Amino acid sequence: CGIVGYLGFREAYPIIINGLKRLEYRGYDSAGLVVMNNNSFGLVKTKGKVSELEEKSQNINDGATVGIGHTRWATHGVPNDVNSHPHLSNDGNLVIVHNGIIENYDSIKTELKQKGFVFHSDTDTEVLVNLIQYVKNSENLSLTEAVRYALNEVIGAYAIAVMEKDQPNEIVVGRLGSPLAIGIGENEFFIASDASPFLQFTKDAVYLDDGEMATITLGQGVDVRKIKDNLQVIPAVQELQMNLEEIEKGGFEHFMLKEIYEQPKSIRDTMRGRLLVEEGVIKMAGIWDHQERFLNAKRIIIVACGTSYHAGLVAEYLIEDLARIPVEVEYASEFRYRNPIINKRDVVIAISQSGETADTLAALKLAKEKGAFIYGINNVVGSSIARITDAGSYTHAGPEIGVASTKAFTAQLTILSLIAIKLGKHNGNLSTERFNALISELDSIPELVQETLETTAEQVIEVAEKYKDAPNALYLGRGYNFPSALEGALKLKEISYIHAEGYPAAEMKHGPIALIDENMPVVIIATKTGHYEKVVSNAQEIKARKGQIIAVVNKGDQEVRKIADHVIEIPNSSEEFSPILAAIPLQLLSYYVAVKLGRNVDQPRNLAKSVTVE
Ligand code: G6P
Repeated sequence: CGIVGYLGFREAYPIIINGLKRLEYRGYDSAGLVVMNNNSFGLVKTKGKVSELEEKSQNINDGATVGIGHTRWATHGVPNDVNSHPHLSNDGNLVIVHNGIIENYDSIKTELKQKGFVFHSDTDTEVLVNLIQYVKNSENLSLTEAVRYALNEVIGAYAIAVMEKDQPNEIVVGRLGSPLAIGIGENEFFIASDASPFLQFTKDAVYLDDGEMATITLGQGVDVRKIKDNLQVIPAVQELQMNLEEIEKGGFEHFMLKEIYEQPKSIRDTMRGRLLVEEGVIKMAGIWDHQERFLNAKRIIIVACGTSYHAGLVAEYLIEDLARIPVEVEYASEFRYRNPIINKRDVVIAISQSGETADTLAALKLAKEKGAFIYGINNVVGSSIARITDAGSYTHAGPEIGVASTKAFTAQLTILSLIAIKLGKHNGNLSTERFNALISELDSIPELVQETLETTAEQVIEVAEKYKDAPNALYLGRGYNFPSALEGALKLKEISYIHAEGYPAAEMKHGPIALIDENMPVVIIATKTGHYEKVVSNAQEIKARKGQIIAVVNKGDQEVRKIADHVIEIPNSSEEFSPILAAIPLQLLSYYVAVKLGRNVDQPRNLAKSVTVE
């Protein structure tokens, strides 16, 4: 979910609506907002997207200069008008927006019901706002005190913003496990789940830490306190590095397409200042400062979700191959709940674009408790994961807004390549020649990605047109490109809603081969370096069953061409970097299939970019 708020002298309504549009990547099942004017609330909420909210809320635009809004990814209760935020307290004096989950809401709800409270929605949020009302009225507390009291009662994760009817100069916010930024302008304040809604107004921001709350008062400023003991915290004002153009579409039809085409630049940005080919070094402070931990690691455990998990799988090949350190990769959600064996000599790496994924964060906390050294690979600077890790490397791919991850994935692969090569050099596994060859090739990858974009798009569009109506698709790859197959399938599923499965090419004969007939498109990654002959045999097995083969091959390939129905040529590279190049046409393929099917590419149904619930 995403939260926005404004308190100042401008009209709050357009700031909130536009801010919600920027945050829609965080969830778009329903949306709502409330503005306050002359001690009354103007509240509108609806199932559906922010554009629907905008249509329904035209009339509340009454010059109010304070308000809060919400865009939701449903957890408790189906997405409908009633369950949408904001939620009012029973007495109508308080209004709240909330991102996260209150785990013990049921018991609190029962208690409040006994006290005569009535609930209109199925949400945990409505319970929280009524709890605040209850303690506020019964103990005669200020809004800030009541919020603090209530937050100490609840178990769960949240970012909240609360307003009170006769306090038009004040908003109270709090955070535990979900991000919250406060933008500080001149005589005005902004609240948002990330800084993008207020970037055009101010570059000064305060990021609340977990367990902190703040009272924002017009004319006075931001008073930050620890929720637990009310201890005052001096807020650190940070200057935002993001630019407005980075979060706009810049002429592309969708963010996803823009982000796909940004990859030559984003990969270059990831390597900037780190890969110094002429000097023959990889500079990465996070690794360098903790070299011993990595080199003496008994094993490296990688935890991640979704696309980031697929980057982790590639890392297993990279790090084991180049640095000979054992690697295990696991879905963060599974890792956490299976009593994993972790010891002090383990290094646990969390890969996450947003740095906010609740499952990944929880897995990391567990690893930390058990004494492992924890390392973050995140794209969002200052995100929750980045804050709790012992060290880390940012991917610096720039803001990724399309819900399906593209440039963040290739940036993750780039960082992981740098780490593997660096560790391989330090532990003596890579000779200087091999090291130099790898880094100079890595340095050329942005140009090869550019070439891939230029040469594959047309072929991909043709393939997309031909197979867009297929109900299923199979993606196959081996070795380094087995994860590429998983990621290709995930991309297609996510945005076109076509059922797709990624499989190790050789494993196909143990099951999925039963699915193959003349209607089944099979995307097979058959680059020269990775067990090429074996993949060719797998392709033959498909052809023998009349499957439709779409092969991603290297330039000049002769063998696969003979069997495939379509070939998509990518530039030659070492096996280590082939997943970066193979990702490009697979991203484009899912994009064009989804566009041709009329899907909402940037905001596919049921998904959210940053999933801050477990
Ligand atoms: C969500 C997104 C995916 C993403 C995953 C992990 O499910 O829809 O695109 O890969 O979360 O996100 P993270 O920010 O941790 O990389």
